Amino acid sequence: MEFLSIGRKNFLKVSKIGMGLWQASSAWKGDEESIIEAVGTAMQNGVNFLDTAEAYGNGNSERVLGRALKKYGRENFIIATKVAGAHLRYDELQRAAEASIKRLGVNYIDLYQIHWPDPWEQIPFSQTFKGMKKLYENGKIKAIGVSNFAVRDLEEAMGILGDVPIVSNQVRYNLIQRNIEEEVLPFCRKNRITIIAWSPLAQGVLTGKYNKGNSPKGDIREGNELFSPKNLDSLENIIAVLKMLSEKYSKTSAQIALNWLISKEDVVPIPGAKNSKQALENAESASFTLEKKDISELNSAFASSKIDYLPQ
Ligand SMILES: NC(=O)c1ccc[n+]([C@@H]2O[C@H](COP(=O)([O-])OP(=O)(O)OC[C@H]3O[C@@H](n4cnc5c(N)ncnc54)[C@H](OP(=O)(O)O)[C@@H]3O)[C@@H](O)[C@H]2O)c1
Repeated sequence: MEFLSIGRKNFLKVSKIGMGLWQASSAWKGDEESIIEAVGTAMQNGVNFLDTAEAYGNGNSERVLGRALKKYGRENFIIATKVAGAHLRYDELQRAAEASIKRLGVNYIDLYQIHWPDPWEQIPFSQTFKGMKKLYENGKIKAIGVSNFAVRDLEEAMGILGDVPIVSNQVRYNLIQRNIEEEVLPFCRKNRITIIAWSPLAQGVLTGKYNKGNSPKGDIREGNELFSPKNLDSLENIIAVLKMLSEKYSKTSAQIALNWLISKEDVVPIPGAKNSKQALENAESASFTLEKKDISELNSAFASSKIDYLPQ
């Protein structure tokens, strides 16, 4: 497994692929014991970077991760969690971090992220980032990250933090959802902010196991426009290219899709895994290199696919 430093040299060395634990929540209905096992499998296969959030299952995902850390050793992992956008007042932030630390059963959080810039409470960033700085200075968190931040948000936050860096921005990024390439990705590269890619498998679309006659039922994905028959129809071409490449490399479609992200400098995908089989497959997606012409083929297939987010 290769490692990279989040944000800057010799800092939070994480595996080129991590693992997300939103799956340990009612949104995904993942089985807790299977997810704990999946963490063990990920670790045995070189993955040291785990992502959760207080918002996932109202703290449940952090509790499940806490059990996994107890079983496999906290020292073997870099732990990222997030404070919900609704808890960004200075005092709430201190309490939220303490509560996450308790649920995780750790002494400190490696990477503490603002989950989203909240549009309802409208707490001034000056208050929020003063709170983050305090947690950083007290050693409760080792690094400050953000999530779903636009360039304008990053600029404001960086201005407030001064010489304390924002080391990462966790955003939606996968082969078919690439909006960040326009502005966020170049800005983050220039400012040494690592991109942590959420939904790197487009919630399963890129595994090739779903199609317009077979979309996931009974979980959060029922409300995801990606799985509408029209979109799954439009994505058939890129799913076929993934399948073709999976045969060429003797890998799965999921591994090809994850490798496309891993091949990018300073991008760390965090696929959610529900079981050991998925965790192993995802960890092994970092063990090969796609040829340039195959990357181009994936990009051309993307250019000819269209996702419609309007109600259908
Ligand atoms: N910051 C944010 O706002 C934000 C938002 C979303 C997610 N996240 C983070 O990002 C992580 C991943 O994103 P995500 O959960 O939205 O989507 P994802 O990683 O793109 O997809 C995860 C789903 O794909 C399927 N899967 C995973 N590995 C597979 C494999 N090797 N083969 C076949 N199927 C596989 C599983 O579902 P099935 O087996 O049921 O198909 C799994 O639940 C989350 O766990 C969370 O930590 C952050």
